[in-house]
Amino acid sequence: MAYLGAHFAFRSRWQKTDDELCRHSMSFILHRAIRNDFFQSYLYLLEKLSLVKLYALTSQVINGEMQFYARAKLFYSEVPATEEGMMGDYIELSNTDIQSSQEFLRRFVGGPGKAGTDCALDCGSGIGRVSKHVLLPVFNSVELVDMMETFLDEAQNYLQAKEDKVETYYCYSLQEFTPALRKYDVIWIQWVSGNLTDKDLLEFLCRCCEGLRENGIIILKDNVAREGCFFDSSDSSVIRDMDILRSLIDKSGLVVLREEKQEGFPEQCVPVWMFALRSNGNL
Ligand SMILES: C[S@@+](CC[C@H](N)C(=O)[O-])C[C@H]1O[C@@H](n2cnc3c(N)ncnc32)[C@H](O)[C@@H]1O
Repeated sequence: MAYLGAHFAFRSRWQKTDDELCRHSMSFILHRAIRNDFFQSYLYLLEKLSLVKLYALTSQVINGEMQFYARAKLFYSEVPATEEGMMGDYIELSNTDIQSSQEFLRRFVGGPGKAGTDCALDCGSGIGRVSKHVLLPVFNSVELVDMMETFLDEAQNYLQAKEDKVETYYCYSLQEFTPALRKYDVIWIQWVSGNLTDKDLLEFLCRCCEGLRENGIIILKDNVAREGCFFDSSDSSVIRDMDILRSLIDKSGLVVLREEKQEGFPEQCVPVWMFALRSNGNL
């Protein structure tokens, strides 16, 4: 499967050379030789590093469109704009999730040296389940960003009385979104990091880091694989393991203040972890 993924991922990039270079030219022969060597090394890395396997599965481009993102959009266009839709098949876990998030957040806001309570950003917000229960009770204003207009439209009903504290709804894909500079006390990223490729997640975390005010933090909450990384073709997402997540966090100029496993979820579920992240000060 990974081999096939790699084949398709690179075929679209090599197609142009095959079509346009003269078959008897030195350039063509050289290109073929480099391509073969490259592919051999690539297959070797594929066996050794799960990151490389993920790249093959997330990088396919057709007609200029990244299939990883196109498939996720298609998936979410069929998801109802409800709490059930946001929780997949696990609506019964929503309260437990919210309670743990509230407790986790409390550790880092409102006090000397802690994050302020002025403004939060909910990334991949969906209809605003996290905003409603976790962020709006704490912050003076909250902003939501999601790629699906239908979810943001519904958020305006779903957030009801608290809606007047919502400053802005941004309809953007996170890979194309830049949070305003030094605006946010907390940037919350829940159950959406797997919808970004490694490169886009890394760059997005860097941009989020620049969006933090003094003492601001990023809270990343997501499924974390026990070992290795997996591609979930149903919603076109990846589940990363701890090592890969930590290495992306590290590369993005953030440090982990605290990491905590979500308790109270069934054993058969993929473990969910919460990370509180702060700039390493080197930006
Ligand atoms: C599983 S839902 C989680 C929603 C919310 N974070 C929660 O915990 O209730 C995933 C959300 O991420 C959004 N999403 C997925 N990929 C995205 C992307 N590349 N950019 C922005 N939003 C995305 C989907 O539209 C959906 O609203």
